[in-house]
Amino acid sequence: MNFKIILHESEEAKKINWHVNGEHSVMCLMPLSYSSIEEKNLEIDSNLIRRAGAEIHSFLLTLNKAYYKAHKFKTISIHYSDDSKYQNKRVLDNFVEGLTLANYTFYKHKTNISDESFKIKTSISDKVTSAAIKGTCIARDLINEPLSHLNAEQLSRTLGDLAKEAGFKLEVLNENKIKELKMGGVLSVNKGSIAKPTFNILTYKSKKTNRKNPVVLVGKGVMYDTGGLSLKPTPNSMDMMKCDMGGAASVIGAIYALALSKADCYVVGLIPAVENRPGGEAYVPGDVITMMSGTTVEVLNTDAEGRLILADALHYAKRYKPELVIDLATLTGAAARAIGKHGLVAMENHQKEIFTDFSTHMKSLLSSGNIVGERVVVQPFWDDYKDELISSVADVKNLGGAEAGHITAGKFLEYFVDYPWIHLDIAGVAFLQKNHLYNKQGGTGFAVRLLTHFLTQKS
Ligand code: BES
Ligand code: ZN
Ligand code: ZN
Repeated sequence: MNFKIILHESEEAKKINWHVNGEHSVMCLMPLSYSSIEEKNLEIDSNLIRRAGAEIHSFLLTLNKAYYKAHKFKTISIHYSDDSKYQNKRVLDNFVEGLTLANYTFYKHKTNISDESFKIKTSISDKVTSAAIKGTCIARDLINEPLSHLNAEQLSRTLGDLAKEAGFKLEVLNENKIKELKMGGVLSVNKGSIAKPTFNILTYKSKKTNRKNPVVLVGKGVMYDTGGLSLKPTPNSMDMMKCDMGGAASVIGAIYALALSKADCYVVGLIPAVENRPGGEAYVPGDVITMMSGTTVEVLNTDAEGRLILADALHYAKRYKPELVIDLATLTGAAARAIGKHGLVAMENHQKEIFTDFSTHMKSLLSSGNIVGERVVVQPFWDDYKDELISSVADVKNLGGAEAGHITAGKFLEYFVDYPWIHLDIAGVAFLQKNHLYNKQGGTGFAVRLLTHFLTQKS
């Protein structure tokens, strides 16, 4: 049975309001006001509309629980009421976006429960938004897939399929090549694992672009993080550590979306993929490792592994003479404690001592974040934090002090960059313990929509 959602623009309604409208339908009032008829003057909070989509989705799931099989709603269609004045496409798109993201399920490993998601019959008119939603769901699938089904080599194989499907280029460097390149960070972190590491290079360059220098996206691909020999100390904190490749998943989802929608941009994705485990060969606290850049690092905690693999990838990025590099990583519990699940934490090397203005790139990223509802919170990046990383035996150590751990982690990465750079710590948002708005329990795919929007606005 089909369920109909009718959107009605209302200049009187103060907030989004919806009510049941017969047995198979709800009427959803959208508080709209236009200072002029042009779309750019439309005063509406897109994120509120996405949330309304998710709210009605949850109402429909509850309704379906009360119905017998034959009477359950299987499909949903969304329409404008005939007497709705403007019938703005963006409003409809935002609504379908919230509904579609809320409709995501990961039931692949269940053998006896049928999927309770709906078929949504109304499509999104904006092709980039539509591709970004697909990219988000791909990222969610990758995060939700456990290590038993997705190690580094399996990720590279999956990437091969995605590259063909969306139309981007993929190069996979195997362990031998990683050794040849002397990626000491990647190799050390993976030493405790039997599975092999990979280094994945994704390239998408649209035919029409005349850009010479790409934006490089670097994603932390720790397929599982036990902490290594500095085994994770907090009870149950390991349960969700399949999400430690959330940064990689966001990069993959975004490049997939850009390629699929044939967006006008030049973007390269770099994904070091490893496992962090204790084992006979595992790296130990006190080890000194030489990174691909030649910098030596004293490892004081094997659980601070993300920064080691990212450092090699950030160094590798230099060869592209990038216009900008953005790295994404589930890097620190400190980032999660600072902001929680409501936004992602950002730092940049632009004018880092003066924390009153941001780079043009960062301003544009902040604006994309507000538009797509994946908000970015900039943190200070003063050099004072760097002093905590001074090592007595090597150039730098991989551990800062007890405070502001997300910033000292960022400061560690700064050793390996020489270009405009933004660091995004997504530890608080990559994985949820329970459903929140249009994000479902498990992997969120956070930052796919942010990056896709940012990169398409830029060109
Ligand atoms: N993967 C974790 C960070 C993390 C925490 C991801 C929560 C997702 C949710 C990272 O590798 C880590 O263990 N970080 C340590 C660093 C510390 C040892 C300096 C942390 O934040 O405790
Ligand atoms: Zn760790
Ligand atoms: Zn980690």
